[in-house]
Amino acid sequence: MKRNSVATASLILFASSAGAALAQQQQHDEAAQSSSIKSVLTTPSSMKVEHAHLHRELTEALASGGKTAEAAKNVEAVLMPHFAEEEAYAMPPLSLLETVARGRQPTEAQASEAIRMTDKLRANYDRMIAEHGEVTAALRQLAAAAREEKKPRQAEFAEALILHAQNEEQILYPAALVLGDYLKLKAASSHP
Ligand SMILES: [Fe+2]
Ligand SMILES: [Fe+2]
Repeated sequence: MKRNSVATASLILFASSAGAALAQQQQHDEAAQSSSIKSVLTTPSSMKVEHAHLHRELTEALASGGKTAEAAKNVEAVLMPHFAEEEAYAMPPLSLLETVARGRQPTEAQASEAIRMTDKLRANYDRMIAEHGEVTAALRQLAAAAREEKKPRQAEFAEALILHAQNEEQILYPAALVLGDYLKLKAASSHP
């Protein structure tokens, strides 16, 4: 009897975590789908290159074998859909920052695209930050496995990626959101 109730509880737990994973996947798919149309904005090249560099280092960690590769697999599972979403709508609005900082006006098409994207970032803000928590936890395990297996390169990569996520939380996401608010104010003042 007791065994049955334990089995039922495990089943409920499994079903609810599978349901949560499915819901998260759907959110990623919807976000990527609505952003797949060609945009007038592109991710700033420095950020694209940084993501590509981190991706290459993750590929090396995956190929390095042992516990490091096992831990890298967990990082990959949470990181790849997250990177895709960032490049779809969190990073492209930042390509307007230099223009706005120099007091120049983006085109109407650029401004409305940036507002659409930053609204989407605002709607997904908490989830994106929660994903950084998941990525960071997986990276700490990767760093520990790499140190244990004497792979300093992979440990350094894990630490660099933790900093990358902090930089996004402290600077890049807020910059994109503030930019969106600024562009809305500008649009309201030019079309009262
Ligand atoms: Fe990123
Ligand atoms: Fe991120």
